[in-house]
Amino acid sequence: MESLLHLDSSARYGASFSRRVSAEFAQAWRTAHPEGRYTYRDLAAHPVPPVDAEHLEATGNAPAGAGRSDAHRRASAVVTGELVAELRAADTVVIGSPMYNYSVPSVLKAWLDRITVPELLADRDTGVGPLSGIRFVVVTARGGAYGPGTPRERFDFQEPYLRAVFGMLGVDAGLSFIHTELTKAHTVPHLAQFRDAATTSFAAAIQTARGAGVGVPAG
Ligand SMILES: Cc1cc2nc3c(=O)[nH]c(=O)nc-3n(C[C@H](O)[C@H](O)[C@H](O)COP(=O)(O)O)c2cc1C
Repeated sequence: MESLLHLDSSARYGASFSRRVSAEFAQAWRTAHPEGRYTYRDLAAHPVPPVDAEHLEATGNAPAGAGRSDAHRRASAVVTGELVAELRAADTVVIGSPMYNYSVPSVLKAWLDRITVPELLADRDTGVGPLSGIRFVVVTARGGAYGPGTPRERFDFQEPYLRAVFGMLGVDAGLSFIHTELTKAHTVPHLAQFRDAATTSFAAAIQTARGAGVGVPAG
């Protein structure tokens, strides 16, 4: 059975661009896969706990003996185990990620820290890992513009960062991005000149997400 894991990480709800675009992707996917399994995780509403000594110990990253109590150790292992199992069960993952301070929201970072466990890392020689067959689509929303040739291009630590992390997991060709840019132009007076560009960017992202949800490469 086909399976979609849908993650959101914006701290905003109704006004969130990344949530609207990721929802569009999910809606298209669900229409195309009426029998498919759909799992939704809202990392902003229900943040996963940051990695702790128990997580590191359970995943072989720290010597045994660290940590607080057996109960805490078990609870931490359950969180990590649940997130890893959820990810491994997916064929497609769509991730809504606003740009916060040129990178990803801390709630998404906490999820990434939990799922980059040794068992999911790609083989050093082949570059292939347990997640290599999964298709990942990251939907970003940014207040400004970071495309090639823009003044802030070099401040984009969001897409390069995510490419690096997913590359470590053996996900390269299977990773694509859909960007909605200049979202701040709608509310910040000195960016008013970019409102049309912002509207165009959002409309294009929605269109791309609809296509990507039914399997069209997102680019
Ligand atoms: C804490 C915070 C940090 C932000 N940092 C940036 C930034 O570094 N660059 C940028 O272009 N926009 C930044 N923004 C604006 C958001 O990227 C923009 O509002 C985007 O639309 C948020 O995604 P959302 O619409 O899905 O909530 C920031 C917003 C917040 C709340």
